[in-house]
Amino acid sequence: MKKRILTGIKPTGLAHIGNYFGAIKPAIELSKNNEYDSFYFIADYHALTTLENKEQMQEYFFNIACTWLACGLDPNKVVFYKQSDVPEVFELNWILCNVTPKGLMNRAHAYKAIVEKNEELGQDKDFSVNMGLYNYPILMAADILLFGSNLVPVGLDQKQHIEIARDIANYFNNKYGKVFVEPDCYIQESTAVLVGLDGRKMSKSYGNTIQLFSSEEVLRKTINKIVTDSKLPGEPKPLNCTLNKLYKLFGSEEQCKEFEEKLLNGLSWGEAKKELFNVANEYIKPMREKYFYYQDHKEEVINILTQGAQKARIIAKEYLQKVRTAIGANI
Ligand code: ADP
Ligand code: TRP
Repeated sequence: MKKRILTGIKPTGLAHIGNYFGAIKPAIELSKNNEYDSFYFIADYHALTTLENKEQMQEYFFNIACTWLACGLDPNKVVFYKQSDVPEVFELNWILCNVTPKGLMNRAHAYKAIVEKNEELGQDKDFSVNMGLYNYPILMAADILLFGSNLVPVGLDQKQHIEIARDIANYFNNKYGKVFVEPDCYIQESTAVLVGLDGRKMSKSYGNTIQLFSSEEVLRKTINKIVTDSKLPGEPKPLNCTLNKLYKLFGSEEQCKEFEEKLLNGLSWGEAKKELFNVANEYIKPMREKYFYYQDHKEEVINILTQGAQKARIIAKEYLQKVRTAIGANI
């Protein structure tokens, strides 16, 4: 049997270039490798921990779905689906809850970060934590384990979640016999942590993102907001600046070399931003056209996902039967 790759993105905001270079692009490249069967999905139920309303869910959902397709995901080669269309995931989630020690969830980064913040503020440590957030890693383990995934391409921040999925697979296998594959994560080191407008990790939660698909004008304006130091035109600029880090993602080797020379020779920040805009815009343009095509053809997107879910469920049902048999639920 071919090895399996699986990954998901939760629709909690508009896709940004950190998502693209950190998760989407490597995942799509990997999906072209014929040694693997690929499963890519939109983790809409994972998004419930933060979404405010139905309109937001739908906007972000279509943004992510159209983004995957615009970036080159081929639904004929990859099983592409919406998490909530595969109810087997949620049945497995419950089963996995019962082999997962509570302490493992206490140590999950996202939960720990909230607890620490609450303690700092002198609030109840679980203030604003719902069970969706607390159990988030178990649902993620269900996504991964249900398809016997071997490799999970993600950004560095998701590494712990994959390790937790391995642990959970192990707990289950030790108790009931080997049913689950222990997954590995696949992290591209060069783009593991991409910086945002303010030089910190680009993240929706920091409000420092560059949206992947917006109009040219919005892209230009966003790039103009990149924080720089106060060096004047004519003064050499440091090569570890945010602008150079971002330029490297889009430029060819030769373009990057030229840009670095210009920075060292005192290119003004304003000109450097223009150059970054030009190279980013050229790179994004063909994908942007496809993105807006899919935004205008949502029926087509829904059809692709419906067919994807049908394929996913065939595999999911079969796997779940093995799990049910192992725990004694199949009489
Ligand atoms: P955000 O931090 O903006 O909320 P998500 O948590 O939705 O992003 O991340 C979706 C995927 O994109 C994950 O695999 C994550 O690791 C990757 N990713 C997000 N931000 C970055 C970044 N700045 N650099 C590299 N990868 C990233
Ligand atoms: N937690 C991931 C994120 O925030 C999304 C996700 C959900 C996922 N289920 C997954 C990623 C399974 C990889 C595999 O980006």
